[in-house]
Amino acid sequence: MIASIGWHPVAASSDLPTGHVYQTQLEGQALAVWRSAEGEVNVWEDRCPHRGVRFSIGVAVGNELQCQYHAWRFASGSGACTHIPAHPTQKPAAVIRATIFPVIERGGLVWTRVAEDHSEGTVPLVRDGVVMRALPVNRPAATVEAALLAAELTGATFFVQPLAEGQSVIRGIARDEASLRTLDSALERLRRQLEADHAVI
Ligand code: FES
Repeated sequence: MIASIGWHPVAASSDLPTGHVYQTQLEGQALAVWRSAEGEVNVWEDRCPHRGVRFSIGVAVGNELQCQYHAWRFASGSGACTHIPAHPTQKPAAVIRATIFPVIERGGLVWTRVAEDHSEGTVPLVRDGVVMRALPVNRPAATVEAALLAAELTGATFFVQPLAEGQSVIRGIARDEASLRTLDSALERLRRQLEADHAVI
């Protein structure tokens, strides 16, 4: 397992087909993750600056994300508002923009950090492999990381995404398809054990 300081995987690259906006959380921060038509990945606060509607129920159109409620559009990369349907001839004020987070796509995973000091930490160098399905666990990230270390599972590199209080997601990159099949069931057993241990406390 590799512990990454500050940066965490929040989606798989394959979670971002054209037009789709993927919803997740990191350290309690709701996130909308999407890919522009040109392939740029965006990780934004899941909240439209107009009336606070979740971006994740919107749609990615070309290189913009369109909010579901009043169809305001926001640019990939900058998050700047580009179009307000009620005022089609006016350029939106520069202050109207989505809250964006830094993003790196590596190893088939999308990485970001939401802490205020964006300069801290780095995304680990990971070997190419097979991205494992994300496994939600109703336990804190530190507990899940400790259990993964103790389990000494081989054949993959694991990362833990701290979702919110007491909730995590195990993500991983398996060495190959054979390792993937073995690890899927091992991780499922680990999840059940962790959640069962918690239930009897
Ligand atoms: S709430 Fe998003 S455009 Fe109005």
